[in-house]
Amino acid sequence: MAKFIPVDPFDIVIFGGTGDLSRRKLLPALFHRWLDGQIPETSAIVGTARSDLDDKAYRAMAREACEKATGDNWDDKEWKRFEKLIHYVSIDATSEKADWPLLKSKLTLDPERPCVFYLATAPGLYVSICEALGRVGLAGGETRVVLEKPIGTDLESARAINDGVGAVFSERQVYRIDHYLGKETVQNLMVLRFGNMLFEPLWNRNYVDHVQLTVAEDLGLEGRADYYDKSGALRDMIQNHMLQLLCLTAMEPPNQLDDDDVRTEKIKVLRSLVPIHGEAAKRLTVRGQYRAGVKDGESVKGYLEELSDGTKSQTETFVAVKASIDNWRWAGVPFYLRTGKRMSHRHSDIVIQFKKTPHSLFGEGNDMANRLVIRLQPDEGVRLFVQIKEPGPGGLRVKSLPLNLSYAESFTVRYPDAYERLLMDVVRGNLSLFMRKDEVEAAWTWVDGLIEAWDQSGDAPESYPAGNDGPLAAAMLMDRDGRAWWEGH
Ligand code: BG6
Repeated sequence: MAKFIPVDPFDIVIFGGTGDLSRRKLLPALFHRWLDGQIPETSAIVGTARSDLDDKAYRAMAREACEKATGDNWDDKEWKRFEKLIHYVSIDATSEKADWPLLKSKLTLDPERPCVFYLATAPGLYVSICEALGRVGLAGGETRVVLEKPIGTDLESARAINDGVGAVFSERQVYRIDHYLGKETVQNLMVLRFGNMLFEPLWNRNYVDHVQLTVAEDLGLEGRADYYDKSGALRDMIQNHMLQLLCLTAMEPPNQLDDDDVRTEKIKVLRSLVPIHGEAAKRLTVRGQYRAGVKDGESVKGYLEELSDGTKSQTETFVAVKASIDNWRWAGVPFYLRTGKRMSHRHSDIVIQFKKTPHSLFGEGNDMANRLVIRLQPDEGVRLFVQIKEPGPGGLRVKSLPLNLSYAESFTVRYPDAYERLLMDVVRGNLSLFMRKDEVEAAWTWVDGLIEAWDQSGDAPESYPAGNDGPLAAAMLMDRDGRAWWEGH
């Protein structure tokens, strides 16, 4: 039975309240927390955007979004209680004429009560919204501001956002969200590593051959062409989600789970990443872009066809990188990162490939190496491949088979969406799962090297057919090292 500790009553204002993120994630996350009895009924949820809606219309929009997200578990009676918390204020937060008094009239304005400003808007608006909040006296007391990724498009723009927001809110009030850190399985990575004596002694260059991190998506642009074409897979996935996964996999054990202990360990990893510049990028990275292909028997459009403007974009929809961490624990152990859209199937895995046993007792062709696969999604679980003897006569035949821990089989509780946990953490004032300013900047420092190298080379991304596991060059990146990607099965 899951246990939920109610949070104190709070106010949350969602800028971009009619947008995709609000509808798909934020409003359903709040409704789920309500259904579990975690949100007190004196809380207030205020959606804001430029559209001219009233409370009734906004509640109808929110209802549709929540109904879609809850599916068969829709509870009309609870919705009627929950919707009373929801309000809407039409505001152009960047305009001189914005009606801040109206917004304030919907808030409790108690300096002791958490008041969360969630910026689900284009990052270009973050600073001006924060400045406006400061000007109208909404940045003091227990106020917090949540910034969605991407925070900038490079180090310079990320710094400009951090500095602009930091001129109004102190670092302890700023929650830079990376929803991967709220995923149950990502949380479990820490428990697996630091709650079991078995793994940690082996978790280093002496026993690990290499590490693979894959976040493969089978979807394409999903109507986000405007954003995605300016971003690409490196900025959209590697700079944030994948580097966070890498940090949690590679970091030293923190002293405690306190916000800054974990974040301090993560930043040490980011600062130990070996920069990839110039010619090295050709050897160590692969950029891809999907062309038309076939998925499950259906033909699927290519990236360029999905862009409605007919441009010959060179934005990458796939990236593979061979990264190195220059520290005592990981010297010489490659970390292969790979992410892409329109791949053969959706799977996110962290694979720890252990070294072979030093001496093979069982003959040629038997690969005596353990592999730990942490499946983040979709069918969450952990598999530890061990060698066992195939039954029957005919000599000692050895096979690698997994000890299989499936979360679905072990737990019957619903998996909360990452945003549910993260939103409640913001209300509780727990920063541990949010990125610190210096962490975001360290990640950009490394990523900027890649961007610069790619820009200098001017090479077009390699093409791969939709429904495939990326360009051939990605397989070659591994093959050259005598290794292969784990394709999730
Ligand atoms: C988002 C990216 O941050 O993460 C998307 O902008 C991507 O492009 C998504 O699809 C993946 O998240 P998840 O939780 O579906 O793995």
